[in-house]
Amino acid sequence: MPSIETFRQTPHLVFGGDYNPEQWPEEVWEEDIRLMRKARVNRVTVGVFSWSSIEPREGEYRFGWLDRVMDLMAENGIGVILATPTASPPPWFTAAHPEALPVTANGVRLVHGSRDTYNPAAPAYREAAKRVAEALAVRYAFHPALRMWHLHNEYGTVSYGPETDRAFRTWLQDKCGNLDALNSTWNTAFWSQGYSEWDQILAPQATQYLPNPSQVLDFKRFSADLLRDCLREQVGVVRSHRPEVPVTTNFMLPSWNHYDQWDLAAEIDDVSVDHYPDTPGIEGDVQVAFGSDLARSFNAGRPWVLMEQATTMVYDYAQGRILARPPGALKFNTLQYLARGATGSLFFQWRSPRAGAEFFHSPMVPHVGEDSRTFREIVELGTTLERLAELAEAPAEGQRVTDARVAIVWDAAAWWSADTRALPSNDLAFLPAVRSVHRALWRLGVNADFVQLGADLSRYRLVLVPSKLAASDAEAEALRAFVTAGGHAVLWYFAGSTDENLNVRPGSFTGAFADLLGIRVEEHHPQLAATALTLSDGSAADCWAETIELKGAQSVAEFTHDPLAGSPAVTRTAVGDGTAHYIGTRLQAEALEAHLHRILGEAGVGKDHPAAGNGLEAVRRHAGAGTYLFLLNHGPDAVVVEARGHDLLTDTDLDGTATLDPGGALILREPANITEH
Ligand code: GLA
Repeated sequence: MPSIETFRQTPHLVFGGDYNPEQWPEEVWEEDIRLMRKARVNRVTVGVFSWSSIEPREGEYRFGWLDRVMDLMAENGIGVILATPTASPPPWFTAAHPEALPVTANGVRLVHGSRDTYNPAAPAYREAAKRVAEALAVRYAFHPALRMWHLHNEYGTVSYGPETDRAFRTWLQDKCGNLDALNSTWNTAFWSQGYSEWDQILAPQATQYLPNPSQVLDFKRFSADLLRDCLREQVGVVRSHRPEVPVTTNFMLPSWNHYDQWDLAAEIDDVSVDHYPDTPGIEGDVQVAFGSDLARSFNAGRPWVLMEQATTMVYDYAQGRILARPPGALKFNTLQYLARGATGSLFFQWRSPRAGAEFFHSPMVPHVGEDSRTFREIVELGTTLERLAELAEAPAEGQRVTDARVAIVWDAAAWWSADTRALPSNDLAFLPAVRSVHRALWRLGVNADFVQLGADLSRYRLVLVPSKLAASDAEAEALRAFVTAGGHAVLWYFAGSTDENLNVRPGSFTGAFADLLGIRVEEHHPQLAATALTLSDGSAADCWAETIELKGAQSVAEFTHDPLAGSPAVTRTAVGDGTAHYIGTRLQAEALEAHLHRILGEAGVGKDHPAAGNGLEAVRRHAGAGTYLFLLNHGPDAVVVEARGHDLLTDTDLDGTATLDPGGALILREPANITEH
């Protein structure tokens, strides 16, 4: 029987993937075990979409196959992350409860035939999900193979329709209390939308022209809360049987915004993420760093679980392309995930199915079998991870797995508000803005965490707020307190122009922060897509300009185009012991790096390693009492780096310099006297 320590502390990095033995005859299971042992697999995720195999008819459970799989894993020393199968209700469920099928924004009720065919607001679905979770917990909570619960899969289904409308009204009653407050919050007097009965309120399905932005934002908040409630119910079920078994649910990063990651993270023991970079080359590598930094931040700086990556470089449903990774790239990217706090690497999936929707999705064991480059690279990766076992030790008490002195604000509601239709420009999207700032820091060799405004910011010297249209007074106050106490903050155009209900703040655009920034933004000048701007310091910009009046701030760079020539574009102002910086245009990549470099200098934040930047990634990971410096060369040329310590990859001591070829990596266990930057 595993002890509590077994759940909290593995002696090795985890390695394995989604395993679906129910899709194969049992002879194949024996072969799977042989190959898993060869690859040094020590974790499998079982049961993710297996509801119809577990419960083929309502209330009729068939656990025989799963018992054998769990036992087989225990016998072979492979831990199981056991999933509840609730992301894919079986046909018997949807036949019995058609009202629980999802309805699209256009009012189309979907039918069974794929996965995720449920409405999270439908009581019948919620009850069935709890029942199957309960049945699994009763049977397996004390099984020796169990290491973690994996609840659901990628929460993210949004549904409209009558079941949703009812739940949305209840949520609004909780939020607003009475209809007068709701009518005022949504300003329903505009276009004659005043509600006189709660039953008149609908979720914002397709309508004739622009929907009410405040209503849409509240619907997104409601949908996110609904998914959180689904998760909370299942957490309650499995914890009631054996609370020490850690619980996770896998977030799809970074493109899914149907839930609030911070809220979901608060419900579970450990954050796990699915991550599929969609661009080859160095841009894909930057995405790996981005996804890892998000995952670690959602898990409060603790090691996090990479629940899914793929052996192909890109698997992009939208564009319909699966690109092979170049030789060695899988291992190189996996080292990046490890550097930034992953507990190991799991894959979607162990073996490709012979038929079914994802039959050509890349696996660890491809259709062609063991004699393949993919499987050879998997075996090599398994061997490498075994060599890195000491990284699995948890950081010392109170220590984060990596340290950062810069934080970027990640905020689900900021994303939802930036998606509002009928803003002054179509280029105000959240994700590209956040990514561009993270990418600039990566290129500058400075590591960052993500935070929410309102979280404890005291560990950071610099907080960046790239996109935050809707901001509450409390959020504005939190940022002011951070700056006053000596922090540096950077805000970008349009931030805080509305309150949290998308009601515009009068008197100055960027109103929530204008006073802190020492400016008044009087007029927006959105730019056409093809228009290039140049600032007085030579910075290239586009997309946005605005009339900024200085109210105590100083101008750092000015616009040079008419009618704004000579008027401030970038400003700074001292506030208390800190500085508030403002960027009133969209700086292009190089200019953004230059301005962030300036601001980092003012904030006293240096690189994480002298050689870091320009494609040399340097990250320190804490494990046990030790620190491990990862040095990864993403550039096209060999680089010579200062290297002192024991390299875990080659098992050699280094005391001087080392040459890193393109794609080369070092993981140095640092001597105790090396101080951190
Ligand atoms: C997601 C899912 C998996 C699979 C992969 C394909 O992350 O969790 O079931 O569909 O995508 O990339």
